[in-house]
Amino acid sequence: MPETQEIKKGLAGVVVDYTAISKVNPDTNSLLYRGYPVQELAASKSFEEVAYLLWHGELPTSEQLAEFRRVEVSQRSLDATVKAAIDLLPLTAHPMDVTRTAVSVIGACDPKADDASPEANLAKSVRLFAQLPAVVAYDQRRRRGQELVAARDDLNYSENFLYMTFGEVPDAVVVDAFNVSMILYAEHSFNASTFTARVITSTMSDLYSAVTGAVGALKGPLHGGANEAVMHIFDEIGEASAVSAWLDKAIAEKRKIMGFGHRVYKSGDSRVPTMKASLDLLIEHYDRPDMKALYDTLEADFVGRKGIYPNLDYPSGPAYNLIGFDTVTFTPLFVAARVTGWTAHIMEQLASNALIRPLSEYNGPDERHIEGYVADDAVAATADRAEEAAE
Ligand code: COA
Repeated sequence: MPETQEIKKGLAGVVVDYTAISKVNPDTNSLLYRGYPVQELAASKSFEEVAYLLWHGELPTSEQLAEFRRVEVSQRSLDATVKAAIDLLPLTAHPMDVTRTAVSVIGACDPKADDASPEANLAKSVRLFAQLPAVVAYDQRRRRGQELVAARDDLNYSENFLYMTFGEVPDAVVVDAFNVSMILYAEHSFNASTFTARVITSTMSDLYSAVTGAVGALKGPLHGGANEAVMHIFDEIGEASAVSAWLDKAIAEKRKIMGFGHRVYKSGDSRVPTMKASLDLLIEHYDRPDMKALYDTLEADFVGRKGIYPNLDYPSGPAYNLIGFDTVTFTPLFVAARVTGWTAHIMEQLASNALIRPLSEYNGPDERHIEGYVADDAVAATADRAEEAAE
């Protein structure tokens, strides 16, 4: 019998592979994409440039960016089959279920879905990047009884995303905040959904299957679903003056306060100050001091009591609310951003693949047998061999 191994529940603290895509450093609260601090990228680059960086390892030259934009813009329209598939889903379906289904249908319609060459996978990554805004925007619109808005090719990614959702391009401050959120959400090393994508890829399954699985992992409230959950908490609390009593009760009931805490960062999430600055601009733009008061009061009170800091979902949830997205649409926005990181990891996994298949320590019942069962010769021989090996 092998000695009992130490079990690292949740793989906490386990390093499973190398990655050159991003570096999370909890000691310095820093996050680098291909070596660049994410704050610098958010302040000076478009989401398209960051997507290119994650996939190619370098920021694009102006020619490379123009070519990338040309390809992206040409694939922005929602494919008729994908639209028809979305239309078949009930309005009661969670938008993450719609998004997961849409990714799967986009894959099923791609004749090159099983081509695992780097060129084909890059093309698929760009395709998903270009199509997801249409999926997310259309799903929010159909819930509101509105028609699909056709993509525009004269707008950048963020402008077009917001245009397809709301039928108009909002003010620059809103577009900028949205662009920042997409960049901050794009990549975060071996988080649960990215690891899911890498596990699926390691079986030599296709990119669309890996992204479909990743969407499923992101849906959970301990992961991407938290940005949505933050807004539910805000709705529940109502106003800043109610925070203290609400927290007394929530802590007594041992509730998890969504938007706080992180598996890796224990003294603050490196992305929060950047997103909070964008949120503050939105609060000013939409004249919502009440939201600022609620946000700041809950943060100060919870951090003061527990020493657990906000994560990116805490400022991004209210930001998406102010921009006008329905709360249920928040996590699909995260999908549209993180698809860049997922697909970069899928390509990295394939470049030096090893099947991901960990072990487990069995703690179920000892071997036992079905009453009256008589093993045939082959089964009996196998059992004999096992017995001999154990001796
Ligand atoms: N609210 C209340 N308590 C929290 C908390 C939160 N948001 N986050 C952590 N804690 C507490 C836990 O209850 C636990 O306390 P205990 O030791 O008394 O049992 C302790 O802090 C450690 O938490 P744990 O869940 O073991 O840490 P983790 O590293 O496994 O979990 C998260 C990290 C993200 C899953 C966790 O912080 C969480 O559930 N946060 C809320 C969901 C969220 O915002 N997710 C988005 C992540 S980007």
